[in-house]
Amino acid sequence: MIENKLNLAVFISGRGSNLQSLIDACQEDNYPAQISVVLSNKPNVQGLERAKKAGIPTLTIPHKDFETKEAFEGTILEALKDYPIDLICLAGFMRILSPYFIGHWPDKIINIHPSLLPDYKGLNTHERALADGQKEVGCTIHHVVPEMDSGPIIMQKKVPVLDGDTPETLAERVLEQEHIAYPEAVRLLAETR
Ligand code: GAR
Repeated sequence: MIENKLNLAVFISGRGSNLQSLIDACQEDNYPAQISVVLSNKPNVQGLERAKKAGIPTLTIPHKDFETKEAFEGTILEALKDYPIDLICLAGFMRILSPYFIGHWPDKIINIHPSLLPDYKGLNTHERALADGQKEVGCTIHHVVPEMDSGPIIMQKKVPVLDGDTPETLAERVLEQEHIAYPEAVRLLAETR
């Protein structure tokens, strides 16, 4: 049993399959991290159910309930004070965090993105990669900085594009790698802290 595990907050907006990969990793005795809290900006999403099933505390803070990003993020910052947190993992969290929020957690927020950054920042990554005739796509785990999908890269995993691939088949193949990469990246950060 490892002492002094890295405490994670995982931010989600939906399905939470990457959250699940972190939950599964954290359930292993020799994994150097544990999840303190899962936060969603959307109510009633599958990821919240995954967290509850694993006995992890959840916070639902819908961005739609706030008039400004400052108010939304201020509420998150306040709520997080109740939990031990060393690292925030964005896992399909579909809100852009402000420099104000990121400044509260310098070098302590990471994100997973379904492309080989710096290529295909933003949405519809697989669709755009296919349209460009890319032969290889993948996923990236990176530190979060104010500029969207930028920030130093921690890890990437690549997959080939196959004949007949659609955005959906590609998303599925990349997602398998995401589920391997995210726990590996968190382990790397925990072990080199
Ligand atoms: C994942 O493919 C993740 O890389 C992507 O959203 C999906 C979330 O799936 N994230 C982004 O596009 C962030 N810009 P999940 O909820 O099943 O983990």
